[in-house]
Amino acid sequence: MVSQQYATLNRTNDKMPLVGFGCWKVSQDEAENTIYNAIKNGYRLIDGAADYGNEVEVGRGINKAIKEGIVKREELFVVTKLWNTYHNKAQVRPAFEKQLKDLNLDYVDLYLIHFPVPLKHVDHATAYPPGWYQPGKEELEFEPSPMYECWREMEHLVDAKLARNIGVSNFNVQMILDLLTYAKIKPATLQVELHPYLQQKRLVEWVQKQGIQITAYSSFGPASFVDLTVDGKTASPLLEHDIIKEISQKHSKTAGQILLRWSIERNVAVIPKSTHEERIKSNLDLFSWSLDGEDMKKIESLDKRLRFNDPFSYGFGLPLFD
Ligand SMILES: NC(=O)c1ccc[n+]([C@@H]2O[C@H](COP(=O)([O-])OP(=O)(O)OC[C@H]3O[C@@H](n4cnc5c(N)ncnc54)[C@H](OP(=O)(O)O)[C@@H]3O)[C@@H](O)[C@H]2O)c1
Repeated sequence: MVSQQYATLNRTNDKMPLVGFGCWKVSQDEAENTIYNAIKNGYRLIDGAADYGNEVEVGRGINKAIKEGIVKREELFVVTKLWNTYHNKAQVRPAFEKQLKDLNLDYVDLYLIHFPVPLKHVDHATAYPPGWYQPGKEELEFEPSPMYECWREMEHLVDAKLARNIGVSNFNVQMILDLLTYAKIKPATLQVELHPYLQQKRLVEWVQKQGIQITAYSSFGPASFVDLTVDGKTASPLLEHDIIKEISQKHSKTAGQILLRWSIERNVAVIPKSTHEERIKSNLDLFSWSLDGEDMKKIESLDKRLRFNDPFSYGFGLPLFD
């Protein structure tokens, strides 16, 4: 059995695995097998989203593994996210219910608000998932849905026992500070982009102090993003960086494992995605070894405040993280 470590979430004391499997960019054709295979290899947390366009297939992979007795539902930790076009208080519940039906599950373990960006509603029949733009248009259209109303609906999903925990993603400190003033249920987690080129040390420390668990996405930095030039800043692939290579040789681990373990050392969970068997296995093998202070110091020197998942750089003109 693969070893795993857990974060204990506030309020429910649920144990969230520190390593999970990310479902972004897993094609519909591959998703059922990939998720089934990930569970077979020992992954117990599956990180999905409506926006990834593969929830039906992800659900099939999960249910196949349960049906075959590889895992029980209660041993899995299923995460998914509310898309931006469903922030309106009338839309949160129907959006969630569609996702639950697509996944073919009775509840999720964690439901996150994907971005603090309320976009004009698009109904399921017109486009699903709708993405950032209204169908046929090429500019963002916002809608006046205040976050406190959206969060209240998220809380109702907990009351209805449909989501065991709720949390946020891509929120900054201002957004979380405001949320904490009215939340009856405090966010269990914050999911944000974190890797050695974007370390966000102050954010991580402050959020952890509030009792909110952090999950890192895009742990390999530019690996998921084709263009390595963002806002005029360029960066070489982290997986090939000399410092990462040197540390990986020192520990006889892959560069990918070093980047993932770096987050674990900060008590931050990770959700790597891979469709390669060997990487699926090695990305989970993070607990029988560790990085030392010297390794952490070297990696600390790589920070460039370089963000890849930024709606501004995508051409949406929204400087969300400024
Ligand atoms: N909340 C958000 O806004 C948000 C945004 C982005 C991502 N996420 C979540 O975070 C998950 C992970 O983020 P991500 O997809 O950006 O990136 P990632 O997991 O950091 O990187 C995935 C890429 O790295 C490759 N890879 C995986 N393991 C590797 C290894 N050991 N060595 C070398 N290359 C490796 C994969 O290729 P192969 O598949 O070919 O192995 C793929 O190209 C997503 O799947 C999603 O669940 C959330």
